[in-house]
Amino acid sequence: MTHASTGAPGFDGEALRARALASLLAARDRTTLLTSCVEEPELTAQHSPLMSPLVWDLAHIGNQEELWLLRAVAGQDALRPEIDSLYDAFEHPRSERPTLPLLAPGEARRYAAEVRGRALDVLESAAFRGPTRLTEAGFAFGMIAQHEQQHDETMLITHQLRTGPQALTAPDPAPAPLLTGPAEVLIPGGPFTMGTSTEPWALDNERPAHRRDVPPFHLDTTPVTNGAYLRFIEDGGYDEPRWWAPEGWTHIRRHGIHAPQFWRRDAGQWLRRRFGAVEPVPPDEPVLHVSWYEADAYARWAGRRLPTEAEWEKAARFDPATGASRRYPWGDADPAPGHANLGQRHLRPAPAGSYPAGESPFGVRQLIGDVWEWTSSDFLPYPGFTAFPYKEYSEVFFGPGYKVLRGGSFAVDEVACRGTFRNWDLPVRRQIFSGFRTARSGAV
Ligand code: AVJ
Ligand code: FE
Repeated sequence: MTHASTGAPGFDGEALRARALASLLAARDRTTLLTSCVEEPELTAQHSPLMSPLVWDLAHIGNQEELWLLRAVAGQDALRPEIDSLYDAFEHPRSERPTLPLLAPGEARRYAAEVRGRALDVLESAAFRGPTRLTEAGFAFGMIAQHEQQHDETMLITHQLRTGPQALTAPDPAPAPLLTGPAEVLIPGGPFTMGTSTEPWALDNERPAHRRDVPPFHLDTTPVTNGAYLRFIEDGGYDEPRWWAPEGWTHIRRHGIHAPQFWRRDAGQWLRRRFGAVEPVPPDEPVLHVSWYEADAYARWAGRRLPTEAEWEKAARFDPATGASRRYPWGDADPAPGHANLGQRHLRPAPAGSYPAGESPFGVRQLIGDVWEWTSSDFLPYPGFTAFPYKEYSEVFFGPGYKVLRGGSFAVDEVACRGTFRNWDLPVRRQIFSGFRTARSGAV
């Protein structure tokens, strides 16, 4: 698919409409896979107090689609007004959701399918140019495809937390080409354009585009690997308070944390559980399932630091040849399989150094895909931010409590991943597909 740009008067509405249709269908295929690969009792079970039952995600996906595409865009009446509150993420925390009178799996599937049938009719005739901002350039349809894919990542996390035999399989990524380049690269200082005002389906927190000055810094060429992280563990990193932010130290002591989540030491060997299979920890793969506190401690131990969010985005988007910011590290083209490990094609990160075709002009690899990368930054609005179309997507989370993650993981679909995309979570979180790379200030 080619890039259909907007903001400019000349966006190609029919290309965006086709893309919206393809994105909605792709999301539903994935939702169907993630909710049909286990028996029904597993859909209603709570596999972790941190997560919803899978059947909640399924009906919540349908309910959000109904709220935005059927009611807000098309002005239709509620299909089942009595269920709205069950699927409102703010009314019921995840831990409470299994006790609610949720739609049973069959009902939830039928409800989501009924909404989808009507939504496709709405898509066919919706005006992509005015009169409302909601459907301008197909935004609401893109937003709903992204929402479903975000819950597909959430459901994949639930699959990872679930115990019992393996339900999902996927081919492994190819072995990495030998990395012969430097371990870090210099990103020269100077202003760049952060965020976007023209990407049609960019969400409110990515807007507007604005200038940021970023002093020179060095950034790791690849995400930090399991092998490197093991050296931190073996050097006693988890027993040394000076590497840790004080709240992080308290947290790991209280919870007895001494390695990434899902790791276990067995007869001198480190093993990990991955979607129901237990395997040796692969040293060349980016480390996964670490909290912000663990990433921050590793960086301090290594004599480095986490990159700021602005540094991450400059490394991913700044084109030194033109001075402009691009959509992705490799340019403006939509992601292709050779660029990045996205879309649950593989159920693991690819070895560090993979995807040379996806590297940035400065030679930074795997910024997009593989693992979400923790940054040092709090989740804050850009100058000129306005909540759209609802405050509960981003605005209610702004503040020092949440740290920003960038770049997307192997579990993220391309519709929900770009150089400007912002994710956020609590600094203790590690069931998410999170890793990191490190940085240091200065040009030398
Ligand atoms: C952007 C991943 C933090 O899952 O909480 C889904 C996405 N918002 N439904 C989340 C989201 C509403 C959100 N994150
Ligand atoms: Fe949601």
